Amino acid sequence: MIPPPSPSALRQLTDVPALRAQVRAWRAAGEGVALVPTMGALHEGHLSLVRQAQAGSRRVVVSIFVNPTQFGPNEDFSRYPRVLEADLALLTEVGADAAFLPDVATMYPPGFATTVTVAGLTDVLCGPVRPGHFAGVATVVTKLLLQALPDRAIFGEKDFQQLQVIRRAVRDLDVPVAIEGAPTLRESDGLALSSRNRYLSAEERRTAPALYAVLQGVAEAVRGGADTAPALAEGRAALEAAGFAPVQYLSVNDAESLAPLERVAGPARVLAAACLGRTRLIDNVAV
Ligand code: PAF
Repeated sequence: MIPPPSPSALRQLTDVPALRAQVRAWRAAGEGVALVPTMGALHEGHLSLVRQAQAGSRRVVVSIFVNPTQFGPNEDFSRYPRVLEADLALLTEVGADAAFLPDVATMYPPGFATTVTVAGLTDVLCGPVRPGHFAGVATVVTKLLLQALPDRAIFGEKDFQQLQVIRRAVRDLDVPVAIEGAPTLRESDGLALSSRNRYLSAEERRTAPALYAVLQGVAEAVRGGADTAPALAEGRAALEAAGFAPVQYLSVNDAESLAPLERVAGPARVLAAACLGRTRLIDNVAV
């Protein structure tokens, strides 16, 4: 007979009824629940999301699902790192309560025909470069939120556009979950933590921190309300000189609407996406 899990053990749940039964049991005991959606290949950045979740909720569920619908045909879906055993060990160590591990058939059963798209916010930045990406994200996150029905869900600010898209979808669809952003964690040289950093060669890894340095330089230059165009041109040239190719975008945008800005007059963000070899890096900073 399999012994029931001890209170601190990580429960592994693979289907929606089991997830819902667990969340219902916690709620019946008066315990709040937070969800941290991930695609696995967990690193310290994800663990910081779990810790933020734990700080406000008694129970934390971490979902791990490499979502096929958010990858384009020429993107890295098949080579995306899948390291479940290591992920589960990290979740046990950090004290998460449950890992939700659905398979593709659970998330997209035969005949699946519904997509969540968020207009406007997805017309800029990563939207045009990755057609269909945000529809894939918004659809899978909406499903995860409705499957788990947590009180809160935590997402990293490193994927700033994703965070804003999710906030908007949840608001528009009245999904009863509070969406929280969490600050980006960085290596000591400034490189934002990302599961994709493991693709970088040693030389690319040495170049990668230039992205953050350029973002900071642009933020500094436009903070007082100066035209954004010269700072952006200089920043793009610096990225290209460092070896990024292509620089897909480097842009100053309104933090709420994500509209590109010629001058900063309120909360704004500098955002970039650029490739080093086969690896696409994104990052952003507040102005
Ligand atoms: O940021 C991610 O890891 C993914 O886009 C998410 C939010 C888990 C949806 O698949």
